[in-house]
Amino acid sequence: MASREQFSSRTGFLMAAAGSAIGLGNVWGFPTQTAEHGGAAFVLVYLALAFCLAYPVLMAELVIGRHARANAFGALRGIARGVVGRRLGAAVGLYAVLISSLILSFYAIVAGWMLAFMLGAAADMAGLTGLSDWLQRFGPGRNVVFLLVFMGLTMAIVARGVSSGIERWSTRLMPALLVILVLLIGYVLSRGGAVEGLKVYLLPDFSRIGPGLVLNAMGQAFFSLSLGVGTMLIYGSYLSERENLPGIGAAVTLFDVSVAFLAGLLIIPAIYVAQRYGVTTVDASGALIAGPDLIFQVLPVLFDSMGGVGVPVAFAFFLLMSIASLTSSISMLEVPVALAAEETGASRGRATLGTGALIFAVSLGIVLNFEALFNGVVAFTTVYSQPLLGIMFCIFVGWIWHRNALLQELRRGQPDMAGTWFWRVWPFYVKFFCPVLILGTFLQSVVG
Ligand code: PHE
Repeated sequence: MASREQFSSRTGFLMAAAGSAIGLGNVWGFPTQTAEHGGAAFVLVYLALAFCLAYPVLMAELVIGRHARANAFGALRGIARGVVGRRLGAAVGLYAVLISSLILSFYAIVAGWMLAFMLGAAADMAGLTGLSDWLQRFGPGRNVVFLLVFMGLTMAIVARGVSSGIERWSTRLMPALLVILVLLIGYVLSRGGAVEGLKVYLLPDFSRIGPGLVLNAMGQAFFSLSLGVGTMLIYGSYLSERENLPGIGAAVTLFDVSVAFLAGLLIIPAIYVAQRYGVTTVDASGALIAGPDLIFQVLPVLFDSMGGVGVPVAFAFFLLMSIASLTSSISMLEVPVALAAEETGASRGRATLGTGALIFAVSLGIVLNFEALFNGVVAFTTVYSQPLLGIMFCIFVGWIWHRNALLQELRRGQPDMAGTWFWRVWPFYVKFFCPVLILGTFLQSVVG
């Protein structure tokens, strides 16, 4: 077998892993969840969960991946012992690959809308109003075309491989994303009404903290850090032995959380600016419009009412969304591609084509039966499967894998690991605390 690919540098890995983590979950999910759940109170709970719960699980995935140097299926089967353990590992690994693929199948639909709206703004700038109308109207034709375009882009990058595809494009796109985000924040904050939004975002209302909020914050943290589905595991498997895993994992978490926070500085004030412009931002029951309507109706009406700058601002906004989606979707596709290539011996190109086509077919089924399927697939993958898989990763690291093997793996990048606070706290923490906390929050929502 050809030698396994690797990220060429620490920055390359950081950009790729942060690119995976930073996606629609940050730029859309986090701000809207925050707005729905009491503003700053949600932000505080989210921050606590991201570092205390999501970071330890992220570390579990990274350690397993780098040690096994294999896809989720091969890796979990490899670290388990005994026939039963190996079967369990194989089953959990396959489940993770399935969920990653299913997440991509709905994510690509939404990402396609972002691309269409971005090109719609470009068409507006070029004076092509007919085209722009088509691009910004939700019809089956447009939806299918842009699903295909987005999947095509994702596949084109993944087919090029780890360092010349995933790493290269993440390294190009992530700085662009940051620049656009900061420029948009600057613009929105200079508009009337923004300060009101800032207050809601930054001043906590602690009476809002309850079990529902905690569950939502947990789901959001898992989704945002791309956990449970083998993406971080597979990226970890391409990471050099010399890297210090706890440090690099902390950097990814910090990067992800910071961008979510920044996105809140954009979206929440934008909602209040829109109100100032007379745009309807609440529905008939008085609840904030937070779902797709926020992105595809409220904000476009706001852009329209901004006059001449509106169209370039809309373009920048949907470009931001498209970039965020693409650097995440490539990580989702890498999970089944690595499995297909490593377990069947197929070339990367063929593996990408095969799994990409399969996922596209599933997406097509969803987009053509949107009302019946979309929300169900989202809930099944992100609300139920991701936390449960997160528990499984903790169990593998905490209960199934040898503690010594774990220490040895961590020592590679940091020889004095045994004496660090990380080693004193983390193994115990993933063994008991994380599974119990995830399960507790989870059950509370399912039973309650
Ligand atoms: N983290 C991505 C986001 O916030 C979504 C994602 C989930 C990516 C699972 C990979 C795997 O949008």
